[in-house]
Amino acid sequence: MCGIVGYVGPNPSAKALDVVMEGLTRLEYRGYDSAGVALIGDGEVVGEKRAGKLSNLVEALNAHPLPETATAIGHTRWATHGGPTDGNAHPHRGGTDRKLALVHNGIIENFHALKKQLLAEGVEFASETDTEVVAHLVSQAFGRTGDLTQAMREVVNTLAGAFTLLAVHADQPDVVVGARRNSPLVVGLGEGENFLGSDVAAFIGYTRHALELGQDQIVTITPDSYSVINFDGTPSDGKAYEVTWDSAAAEKGGYDTFMEKEINDQPHAVADTLLGRTDERGHLVLDEMGMSEEDLRAITKIVIVACGTAAYAGMVAKYAIERWARIPVEVELAHEFRYRDPVIDEQTLVVSISQSGETMDTLMAVRHAKDLGARTISICNTHGSTIPRESDGVLYTHAGPEIAVASTKAFLAQITASYILGLYLVQVREGNEEGVAEVMSELQAIPDKIQQVLDGMDRVKEIARFMADTRAVLFLGRHVGYPVAMEGALKLKELAYIHAEGFAAGELKHGPIALIEPGQPVFIVVPSPDSEHGLHGKVVSNIQEIRARGARTLVIAEEGDEDVVPFADEVIRIPRSPALLAPLLSVVPLQVFALELSTAKGLDVDQPRNLAKSVTVE
Ligand code: F6R
Repeated sequence: MCGIVGYVGPNPSAKALDVVMEGLTRLEYRGYDSAGVALIGDGEVVGEKRAGKLSNLVEALNAHPLPETATAIGHTRWATHGGPTDGNAHPHRGGTDRKLALVHNGIIENFHALKKQLLAEGVEFASETDTEVVAHLVSQAFGRTGDLTQAMREVVNTLAGAFTLLAVHADQPDVVVGARRNSPLVVGLGEGENFLGSDVAAFIGYTRHALELGQDQIVTITPDSYSVINFDGTPSDGKAYEVTWDSAAAEKGGYDTFMEKEINDQPHAVADTLLGRTDERGHLVLDEMGMSEEDLRAITKIVIVACGTAAYAGMVAKYAIERWARIPVEVELAHEFRYRDPVIDEQTLVVSISQSGETMDTLMAVRHAKDLGARTISICNTHGSTIPRESDGVLYTHAGPEIAVASTKAFLAQITASYILGLYLVQVREGNEEGVAEVMSELQAIPDKIQQVLDGMDRVKEIARFMADTRAVLFLGRHVGYPVAMEGALKLKELAYIHAEGFAAGELKHGPIALIEPGQPVFIVVPSPDSEHGLHGKVVSNIQEIRARGARTLVIAEEGDEDVVPFADEVIRIPRSPALLAPLLSVVPLQVFALELSTAKGLDVDQPRNLAKSVTVE
């Protein structure tokens, strides 16, 4: 949650505010209930902050322009402590001289005790936030040390919780200091200017040279230098890397919304995630698995931990990995897993799935798994983020930056990566090269099929617009169609604020069928007619059952599946594909439906209410 940006450039320079505002625009997806900036002017800190979206801050800055300066920090907030008001917006000032400004992403868990102590000393607070406590503490420490880095180091060692902090002080005008524990912070290295951001999107318009920071580290940037130390004061280097995507990838590319762009990016997201996974003999090569083939052969169980959409990708993975690799797979919501006593050992492989790589619940589940001795692999879309860094191995998805809060292309990339993982396990454990090659070639054909689905979405859009006043929608699926149904329901809830439920179609008669009344819209994800165990016929029967009770049946079925036609009010076609790979196609109409319905209702598609892109608090 929360996006933070820091910049320091040559003096005199007029750029700081522009750079920080541009960074905040790119990071607004991380939180958007208030925003603010602080600049180092002539021996003082000046700034502006506003509740509401970034546009409110822009308006305020237009009405009362700030001076041009070389150093600035900025913040876009998703509230934790203290409601979304002007006063609680960041940056917060420290000290009676108000010479320090600080922004924060995360939660300071011991802030009550620290605040009590400061109140006893007579410190006055201007907000209800945990962050302001830190601002006062850093200001006091600056008074003692005269150095912002030292002051930050003193204070971070007294804090509990998760935080990324950035601070500036009027008495050190060409310095920005950042610190991180359990929250993201990357450094952008420019020429005669340096940047800090919650992710590289913050500064991608200026530089692609980035530096990854480790856990519990402090970074100090000036216009022409940077230095990294650990919280214990020992020096460190950080890990330099080049960002492979450009600023256009983080912009809308001609679409009205990021989500629309990201849905349309999906053929590329899948193709890019498949790219470079095989050697010249067609063998899968996963460079960053962090486990020997011997270790992988010794695995007796896989536990997938994830939240939300990523957990639905995990459910699809379960069907595929168990079928192909014959290893038992459990899927568990990360926030449930971390507070259980799961029965796992060093022969358990815990696979975390996370777009951001920063989801606190998933990170904590990974740590819990490691404490219990499990091996850990992360499927992640964000290079250098915390979860892959803390896992034994990583399989990066290559969906590119996902900006819209609701996940779409990352979901498809996560499913693709988990198929690759399953096939790799087959290769290593069973040596069934032919089988692996066959599925890989089916997978290579999927991006074109996704494009076909996207090209045929006009009717789905019409249906969505027609249903703008609908109050509840149900989604049914079976086998891999079940997580797709859940994902379809989640997309509709979060984007269109419509009550939606996804059910396993077999569960219908055990309760949910009572919800069916005349006119109730129900999406049904129909398995391929080639599915095993007669699943197709069973779902067709389910359609008949609900239709007989008046449901409006919106059926997603393969091309050529004529069995569904007599019982469908609408048939939405997807190309034929092997049953286990079908989720990569069948979820697309459901994403488009939610997007279009949300748009028809005039809602903010990219930033739905109450949500934030990366949930870095519990
Ligand atoms: C829904 C959505 C969320 C995320 C979940 C996990 O559209 O985006 O449910 O999937 O918060 O986030 P990551 O994948 O970043 O760990």
